[in-house]
Amino acid sequence: MDRLLIRGGRPLEGSVRVSGAKNAALPIMCAALLTDQALELSNVPKLMDVRTMAKLLSQMGVEAGPLIDGRTSLRAAAAQNPEAPYELVKTMRASVLVLGPLLARCGRAKVSLPGGCAIGQRPVDQHIKGLQAMGARITVEHGYMIAAAERLRGAHIVMDLVTVTGTENLMMAAALAEGTTLLENAAREPEVIDLARCLTAMGARIEGAGTGTIRIEGVPSLAGAEHAVMPDRIETGTFLAAVAAAGGKVRLTGAAPETLEATLEKLREAGARIAVSGDVIEIEMAGRPQAASLRTEPYPGFATDMQAQLMALDTIASGTGVITETIFENRFMHALELQRLGADITIQGNTAVVKGVERLQGASVMATDLRASASLVIAGLIAQGETVIERIYHLDRGYEALEEKFGALGAKIERVK
Ligand code: EPZ
Repeated sequence: MDRLLIRGGRPLEGSVRVSGAKNAALPIMCAALLTDQALELSNVPKLMDVRTMAKLLSQMGVEAGPLIDGRTSLRAAAAQNPEAPYELVKTMRASVLVLGPLLARCGRAKVSLPGGCAIGQRPVDQHIKGLQAMGARITVEHGYMIAAAERLRGAHIVMDLVTVTGTENLMMAAALAEGTTLLENAAREPEVIDLARCLTAMGARIEGAGTGTIRIEGVPSLAGAEHAVMPDRIETGTFLAAVAAAGGKVRLTGAAPETLEATLEKLREAGARIAVSGDVIEIEMAGRPQAASLRTEPYPGFATDMQAQLMALDTIASGTGVITETIFENRFMHALELQRLGADITIQGNTAVVKGVERLQGASVMATDLRASASLVIAGLIAQGETVIERIYHLDRGYEALEEKFGALGAKIERVK
């Protein structure tokens, strides 16, 4: 298993380009199932999850071209094998995003229940409820969702809670349904908007993506299209949080600053100077950050995927930060690892109280999930001495060449086999 060795205590200086968004690329790759023509994608990040999704789609009969310089082409001439097996789904929950498109395109699907993961139980009841409202018959047998529908019908669906992939699954299914679908209490994340943009380019009729009410008018078929995946707002926020913690001056290019306003505001509160111009974000930080308190919320609130990174910053900030996680029931595992580095964190239910200490001390720690590993990288960058992070395959799922990018900013960070 690969490990990361980090020697902390250096400021970050230089410029780095942000990659395409993992959480936009994954649903957009599934949209290829909705047409028999080619979907040409660009700005696709080179990630393990993208490779896993390409493998899953290929097993269904989708021709998935190589990923070269962020470009790839997907063509589902016929989705002969509408199945998502457990051995793939258990490694990537986003596999559930093939369910809606398979039902819409070929009228049947057999998709393994994703099962839980480190951060929570992760049910998919809203995906199932919405598809049933559109006329799908779905039973759960031996850990698989068995779904069938001659032709999906438009429906008025009020989601019981805000779910990002639930909204995306239903939006894709509705694109080819008979009649109009109204999705209420829909997720407003930028990745939902990016998927809607891609579907619209394919000929879908969608209004209101990015608001809580999305209206989709079904069409008989969709065509191929070209689409550039939006920049990754969580990768962007991760780099910004690292500079706010470690100090220095960094320029991020190829970013979408308007998609991470809550994070920018929080980092300014912590004392970072952040300037935005077009797709460039410049951050400068000198001295010790102020502790930031936050509460994760669905977009446009503070992103749960940025919670672990801000906790790492708070460990060495002056003052006390109070962090409340409202989206997932078990998303504080990084706190236990940060404590090994000397952090003073008290967990009370879904709230963590982080008292800033002068310095963290390098130690061996273990990554437990994707964003937790990012928080450990930030902690390693600010700890005294050497930090070794085990199980960094979690990191490789969602960050493209992270150690190269941080290395280019002057960090002493090395991957060892
Ligand atoms: C997406 O996951 C992201 N993944 C997650 O990013 C992100 O943390 C999450 O949205 C919240 O923003 C992708 O987009 C591929 P949800 P998703 O459905 O869609 C509950 C990362 O690090 N829920 O919005 O699975 C659920 O348990 C990953 O890149 C139900 O109860 O999240 C959770 O508590 C981690 N029933 C809450 O809703 C359902 O049917 C929000 O989950 C669906 C969800």
